[in-house]
Amino acid sequence: MIEINFPSDFNTNLLMLFRWLHFVGGITWLGLLYFFNLVNVPFMKELDAATKGKVLPSLMSRALWWFRWASVLTVLMGLAYWGKIVAVDARNGGFTSAVPMASFFVIWTVAWALMYSCLIPGEGALDKAPVLTVIYIVIVLAAAALFLRLNDHGWESNELLAIGIGGGMGWVMMLNVWGVIWRAQKKIIRWTADNAANGTPIPENAKYLSRQVFLTSRANFWMSFPLLFLMGAASHYPMFGK
Ligand code: HEM
Repeated sequence: MIEINFPSDFNTNLLMLFRWLHFVGGITWLGLLYFFNLVNVPFMKELDAATKGKVLPSLMSRALWWFRWASVLTVLMGLAYWGKIVAVDARNGGFTSAVPMASFFVIWTVAWALMYSCLIPGEGALDKAPVLTVIYIVIVLAAAALFLRLNDHGWESNELLAIGIGGGMGWVMMLNVWGVIWRAQKKIIRWTADNAANGTPIPENAKYLSRQVFLTSRANFWMSFPLLFLMGAASHYPMFGK
């Protein structure tokens, strides 16, 4: 008979719970993100206005509920787990968690703000996805390089650094979900439902907001690939640190 021995100490179980919830949240979030990008965008284009008026509000309000709360669960559980990794590394190195933690939030929040400031559809070159892609890649690379530069004392582990960058992208993606996608989508859903029920005209601004959502959702879609690479690399592919 194979013996099953669950670890009995509290910390191991708590971390396992964080990790497990992190995966559950991540799968729900990215599953929906991939559904939006790979299935829903082309599908919605095929619908006529009346069908769209029926389908969009009901489908999107449900899907976006799971989408945005899964993003919160993933990021909170990831941060809790990362906080533990940072604390152990810092203790071993004779430091505190202050620099990795503070640099994480400052760098990646500023990166998000810069990306958001370039999101002005209709403004010439910035409306073009390839142009925005290049700008976003430069911003993410600069943020990653700065994070590595500020955290190179020698005691930072591969886990700390890989998640400091991959998790930073996750943080940016969550700010996109709440700060751009949901903010715009809740208006679009309301206008579409009003239009279907009462014939209220859809405001002109809807086109601008839809384009913002599209570009941001695509950016999150592409960012999820290096993010997942770095999540996997944290414990299984030593590439950072001294
Ligand atoms: C879309 C968002 C995210 C997804 C889908 C995701 C997914 C994953 C996956 C699949 C793993 C397992 C890696 C492995 O065991 O090989 C992982 C590990 C981890 N993630 Fe995330 N993650 C996301 C965002 C974040 C964020 C925002 C943070 C925190 C800043 C974070 C922190 C961590 C930590 C600490 C680990 C454990 C690393 C280790 O193995 O030592 N994640 N994540």
